[in-house]
Amino acid sequence: MKALVLSGGKGSRLRPITYSYAKQLIPIVNKPILFYVLEDLASAGISDVGMIVGATKDLIKAAVGNGENWGIKVTYIEQKSPLGLGHAVKIAQPFIGNQPFVMYLGDNILRGGIKSFISEYGNKGEDINILLTEVKHPECFGVAELDQRGRVKKLVEKPQHFISNHVLVGVYIFNQKIFPAVDAIKPSGRGELEITDAIQYVIDHGGKVEPFLIKGWWKDTGKTEDVLEANSLLIEGIEPRISGAIDQLSKLSGRINIGENTLISNSVIEGPVIIGGNCLIENGLIGPFTSIGDNVQITNSKIEKSIIMEETVIINYQNKIVNSLIGRGVKLKSRQEKPAVHQLLLGDHCSLGIYE
Ligand code: G1P
Repeated sequence: MKALVLSGGKGSRLRPITYSYAKQLIPIVNKPILFYVLEDLASAGISDVGMIVGATKDLIKAAVGNGENWGIKVTYIEQKSPLGLGHAVKIAQPFIGNQPFVMYLGDNILRGGIKSFISEYGNKGEDINILLTEVKHPECFGVAELDQRGRVKKLVEKPQHFISNHVLVGVYIFNQKIFPAVDAIKPSGRGELEITDAIQYVIDHGGKVEPFLIKGWWKDTGKTEDVLEANSLLIEGIEPRISGAIDQLSKLSGRINIGENTLISNSVIEGPVIIGGNCLIENGLIGPFTSIGDNVQITNSKIEKSIIMEETVIINYQNKIVNSLIGRGVKLKSRQEKPAVHQLLLGDHCSLGIYE
């Protein structure tokens, strides 16, 4: 079976990070989200992957290359503008050919993986198989209404009125019936060809759609809080490993992974924590659920439940930094003497919360 991975889109809910970065490359436990997707596909035995790319295509290509790191072959398919998941399927038809295929959104992380989902496809004679999970706020997703036998009756994209708590996880298996459907549907209110509408079209034209309820957790990493939550969930499983140097004044507890050439000096590290290579952490407190990329310096500062990307420098920051997503090459510096002032250089759509 071939796979179609969607790595386009603007990532507008993750600005300003996504002004200079693809949302699928945001690191979760120091690894891009998209790499979890590729690992999952490879371990499900899929080796032929079509990657839909948009404005951030150069960044995605530089990170993924031809796929050999995962033992897969990646073919890039360019989507000129982000016209929706249905549109992505439409332009991928020449790549897909005549076989059923799995579509995986490049910003989704699934704890349980997709192996059993793929092996069960077709057992009930279905045309489409969708992954569903139950959430508290279904209005943010595609929602599925099931009939009494548990079959998919109706699908609505981001419904304004409650239909059900079952939402579409960003993984689907389609056969050829999806292609006339994406050709027939019209753009939604947000100007996109919605895959939800295309699946509804297949149902309305006699096709069979089976749900597969996932058991483990799932995250669509479209917003900052989802990215941080995915980081907190995955960091629990890190392999404890200390490659850097720790001085005698430092105290480490819990699961901790520290990269090469990193120096921890007079600091407290409370796992689960991952710190990349070539970092300097001095007189700092790094609290649980924190991921720190390579070449980061943290001096006289406290950080917890956050992602700090590579090359960032945080010095003498007075307040504890929590629930924060900090991009690459950021400088956060303060001075210890009074009066305290804030001197800011913030790009468009930054968010700064100071809660004294
Ligand atoms: C898309 C789909 C939606 C699905 C979600 C899962 O939403 O349109 O049906 O539930 O992915 O991540 P979007 O991220 O485009 O808002």
